[in-house]
Amino acid sequence: MTPHNNAKPGDYAEAVLLPGDPLRAKWIAETFLEDAREVNSVRNCLGFTGTWKGKPVSVQATGMGQPSTAIYVHELIEIYGVRTLIRVGTCGGLNKTVKVRDVVIGASASTDSTIVKDAFGAYNYAPAADFSLLRAADDAARAHGKTVHVGGILSSDIFYHPSGLEAYARLIAHGVLGVEMEAATLYMLAARFGARALAICTMTDCLVTGKEIDASARQSSLTDMVEIALEVATGA
Ligand code: HPA
Repeated sequence: MTPHNNAKPGDYAEAVLLPGDPLRAKWIAETFLEDAREVNSVRNCLGFTGTWKGKPVSVQATGMGQPSTAIYVHELIEIYGVRTLIRVGTCGGLNKTVKVRDVVIGASASTDSTIVKDAFGAYNYAPAADFSLLRAADDAARAHGKTVHVGGILSSDIFYHPSGLEAYARLIAHGVLGVEMEAATLYMLAARFGARALAICTMTDCLVTGKEIDASARQSSLTDMVEIALEVATGA
């Protein structure tokens, strides 16, 4: 047990899906897992373990942003022995070729976070996804008939940037596909502790065109993304 997690040793499966939202964690557990049981309820940052197609898998909410994500990810790997971590979330689109509902898989994650910056002194560390998970997710998403984009994403600490889209102009010019708030720290910590990590995002709002996903498409897109993540996480 930790100050943030009241799960006992062995409560988490080796593979964990990581949504930001605790209620999405609950929805994933109730909708997709068999024999799901709650393993963490501290701060209502819910975690569950069950099986999917007979394979053990967990889901743990991270909360929003990299400081919160870092706590859960660090403890999942170091205290609970988790080896495979797959973020399932949404991202804002930064590129007109990425359409609402498309799947964006972060091969790398640039960031403004001091969590990453401060860890490397003179160096600009490049947080990167695990290649085996990346390849499997790309295959699974295509098999689900999704339009998939694999490339750089931005994990920003700032949702309401005072400079708006202009803040991301240089990154957009360097091909960054979307903005979310968690992947870079997830990738860094997985690398630090020898685990595997990937971020799979559904693009829900395009910052370039202003287009947003509608409520019905949101649900089916999230369902697709979770199924892709479960396939990759369990190797099913
Ligand atoms: N910014 C950060 N995270 C997001 C966004 C965004 O615009 N949209 C969905 N997740």
